[in-house]
Amino acid sequence: MRTRFHLNGTPVTADTSPTTTLLDWLREDRNLTGTKEGCNEGDCGACSVMVTDETGARALNACILFMPQIEGKAIRTVEGIAAPDGTLHPVQEAMIKHHGSQCGFCTPGFVTTMATAHLNGATDHDTQLAGNLCRCTGYAPIIRAAQEAEHAPVPDHMHDTPLLLTKNTAGEPQAGAEPPITPAALATWMDQTPQGTLIAGATDVGLWVNKGFRDLGPVAFLNRIPELAGVDVSDDTIRIGAATTLSDLQRAIAPHYPAFAELIRRYGSVQVRNAATIGGNVANGSPIGDGSPALIALDATLHLRSVNGTRTLPLEDFFVAYGKQDRADNEFIEAISIPRRTDHLRCYKLSKRFDQDISAVCGCFWIEVTEGIVTQARLAFGGMAGTPCRAGWAEAALNGNSWNEATIAAAMTALSQDFTPLSDMRASASYRMEAAQNMLLRAWLEDQGQTANVLEVTP
Ligand SMILES: Cc1cc2nc3c(=O)[nH]c(=O)nc-3n(C[C@H](O)[C@H](O)[C@H](O)COP(=O)(O)OP(=O)(O)OC[C@H]3O[C@@H](n4cnc5c(N)ncnc54)[C@H](O)[C@@H]3O)c2cc1C
Ligand code: FES
Ligand code: FES
Repeated sequence: MRTRFHLNGTPVTADTSPTTTLLDWLREDRNLTGTKEGCNEGDCGACSVMVTDETGARALNACILFMPQIEGKAIRTVEGIAAPDGTLHPVQEAMIKHHGSQCGFCTPGFVTTMATAHLNGATDHDTQLAGNLCRCTGYAPIIRAAQEAEHAPVPDHMHDTPLLLTKNTAGEPQAGAEPPITPAALATWMDQTPQGTLIAGATDVGLWVNKGFRDLGPVAFLNRIPELAGVDVSDDTIRIGAATTLSDLQRAIAPHYPAFAELIRRYGSVQVRNAATIGGNVANGSPIGDGSPALIALDATLHLRSVNGTRTLPLEDFFVAYGKQDRADNEFIEAISIPRRTDHLRCYKLSKRFDQDISAVCGCFWIEVTEGIVTQARLAFGGMAGTPCRAGWAEAALNGNSWNEATIAAAMTALSQDFTPLSDMRASASYRMEAAQNMLLRAWLEDQGQTANVLEVTP
């Protein structure tokens, strides 16, 4: 199929299969081998490229980015970071000055991510670079380089213009990929293509192709359907389009539910959050996905759509059993809505690494207290069962009781009636249970004014 976009400032057209990745195309068709292949699964950032569309510039992992996902956008690879006359970009100068490179394999990815952050004025370098792994230099010189470049002006050539073709060309017939461009057209496509696969951010689907070598057959790309993306805030509801990326959701939700935004900061990396969508995160039904526990605690409603119309259900009812969701073959997730209320949300993610790691346990709690009595507790966990789900016994131990340490202790005990977690490579069953119980204790302690910082080491 045909994809049109800007590549390092020049308009190009690529003819590829719908599941050719940008990384493969750059390296094999264009001989642009500066963009590296490390893990080929979104974990290392060696393949980072800058992608600009009408909403701005962001770093993405080219190894799990299918060509149709960049239709109409502007791509800048490491070959396009220095100015056309060869003048180095400020982050390149700073990397040299601070000895930010040894073997150099990771360096193109770092430079591209750093240049994108520099363009956006982002100075939270630890967060911006959490998706770029370096095996030999160590991060201190790289962070020093990023800090040094902060105040240098953005070179003119970095201000890319997207082709903005998406809306104009998405309706053209394309071999190998169907092009629904409205939710109604997608519903029809799904009804007529029962063997079809939806692709949103491809942070899961990309791995099916790269690691599972799966031939996906007919595919539909949700980035072609503008109505599926975006967050609408009304007086009493926040409606999140299924194709909203985690980065966009993080920004939109922060003023309303800051704990959810902070949880999203722990989700993958900048590159992953810039691609992954909340609809994909819910649809895959993963018991260790981070979006669903927070949304369930927030009392989210799922909006499903098909040719038969729309259907809504409480999000927690969507997860029937491990690997089984309440979604017909011809239905897709159109949106997720949550009530807009006074904030009572706390979220805790426990993983082996702080950044870029999947949860061993994720606990999200909505606890409302009126005149010292718990009036509403919604406790949702990931990593404790075959699906993300609520802890009914622990909720019962809280609801209607005094908000004090004895009640929290009772809820912690009750949690063992709610869950029989598994042992796996991330955590043992007993560790998961103890960690989940301690998350409840932490919620209580924080409510009493004691703060805890997981990055702080205390004796
Ligand atoms: C390096 C890396 C780190 C990660 N870290 C985390 C993490 O910290 N926390 C976490 O929760 N996840 C993490 N993930 C998993 C992944 O990012 C999420 O599951 C992601 O949200 C999936 O969304 P997507 O848009 O990329 O979905 P896709 O890969 O495009 O699709 C996933 C599945 O959902 C289906 N689908 C997508 N949209 C819809 C829709 N609207 N309706 C119906 N079906 C749909 C697709 O057909 C497919 O079956 C990570 C992944 C990677 C590669
Ligand atoms: S090659 Fe590792 S993130 Fe793409
Ligand atoms: S310089 Fe060798 S991996 Fe970073």
